[in-house]
Amino acid sequence: MNKPIKRSWAEPYKIKMVELIKMTSHSERKKALKDAGFNTFLLRSEDVYIDLLTDSGTSAMSDRQWAGMMLGDEAYAGSRNFYHLEEVVKDVYGYKYLIPTHQGRGAENILSKILIKKGDIIPGNMYFTTTRLHQELAGGKFEDVIIDEAHDAENEFPFKGNIDLKKLDKLVKKYGAEKIPYVSMATSVNMAGGQPISMANLKELRKYTKKHGIRVIHDMTRVAENAYFIQQREKGYADKSIKEIVTEICSYTDGATMSAKKDALVNIGGFLAVNDWDVFEEARNMVVVYEGLHTYGGLAGRDMEAMAIGIRESVDDDHIKARVGQVIYLGEKMIDYGVPIVKPIGGHGIFVDAKKFLPHIPQESFPAQTLAAEIYLDSGVRTMERGIVSAGRKANGENYCPKLELVRFTIPRRVYTQAHMDVIAESTARVYERREKIKGLKMVYEPKYLRFFQAKFEQLK
Ligand code: F0G
Repeated sequence: MNKPIKRSWAEPYKIKMVELIKMTSHSERKKALKDAGFNTFLLRSEDVYIDLLTDSGTSAMSDRQWAGMMLGDEAYAGSRNFYHLEEVVKDVYGYKYLIPTHQGRGAENILSKILIKKGDIIPGNMYFTTTRLHQELAGGKFEDVIIDEAHDAENEFPFKGNIDLKKLDKLVKKYGAEKIPYVSMATSVNMAGGQPISMANLKELRKYTKKHGIRVIHDMTRVAENAYFIQQREKGYADKSIKEIVTEICSYTDGATMSAKKDALVNIGGFLAVNDWDVFEEARNMVVVYEGLHTYGGLAGRDMEAMAIGIRESVDDDHIKARVGQVIYLGEKMIDYGVPIVKPIGGHGIFVDAKKFLPHIPQESFPAQTLAAEIYLDSGVRTMERGIVSAGRKANGENYCPKLELVRFTIPRRVYTQAHMDVIAESTARVYERREKIKGLKMVYEPKYLRFFQAKFEQLK
């Protein structure tokens, strides 16, 4: 009998404008890579063919968002776009009070300064680079309480973003709840490979933190993608809309920091949203120092308008199905070629396991950094390191040595086609074929903060 004909997903949009990209030769890429100190962050975008460095600020806005840009009310105070954004944040996410910021880390800075005292402990489901740095700069110490499965690239547990409540309880017993200003809970855990947290886990977390008087602060950068996995994988959610699931997730938390450059489909923007009037009042005061007046927070009126429209588009069921569908398409191609990737496939990109890909390169010689450089060299595809370089150093100067040593192929939203995905997978497979000949790197320049952005390397002989 013939196989049943499947019903494929496809993009719920058509293309109205295109941006031309440059194809480069191998020798051009070799020179560009050397000039960039083997750091893909230091490449010029012009020298990149397919740019998977990040899904942050790189998505394509819709015609409606562009039209919204023309409706920018550029008043210094009380812009109508702020009130529109406030209304959308309340409706979709349910948070009461909104402080716009120029991007996610602006919100992290303000929140960390308000809630963290010197010596505090901030448990979280895996660190994120800027989030942890702001916690540390405010005098706190981040403690990882994600479940063990998240540190194992091969483990196929469907909710690898879950918090291990036993680990959290140990911290509460050791330090006392008064030393823990909040649990830093991210949806779609970026550094774990875009892995979701389950609603069941969130409910348990809420129950536990309520009992101990600890806040839950939500890094909601990729909350819609997390909601998609809940809809697909968790019992009782198959018939709920993405918007309903997103609102429910937020309801178990006390506030959120948002980088709207991801889920919310804008090129710049973010916010802090809270339910607590006292925290809001302090944040509203502080935003004036660091970002701008509380009704624009470092953004133009038009940016806030595009964000308000983007948030609504981000929770459309067809949008998110196609967005994650494209990521899964690429991941499955990689698996077919035998390329070792983090499983299950996450929401915003494919994470290649560099320790498995290049087992002959020790972590001190930066296997993931090396692999990102080699992939660029092969095809002009730009990816990024998410391993020992990204992890940085502890306060005492020692390197953090993360178990996961990954190369992230991050997919911008609504930007590339299925044919681009084919080229990416084929290029990675070609590098995999010659993997034994690849040599590691040494770091020759290291900046003090967030070193992965600007560090430089040389090839080992
Ligand atoms: N939280 C998460 C989970 C993020 O992924 C990011 C940014 C931020 C916070 C900070 O937001 O960039 O707007 O200041 N992630 C980008 C990335 C940079 O490439 O993953 P931001």
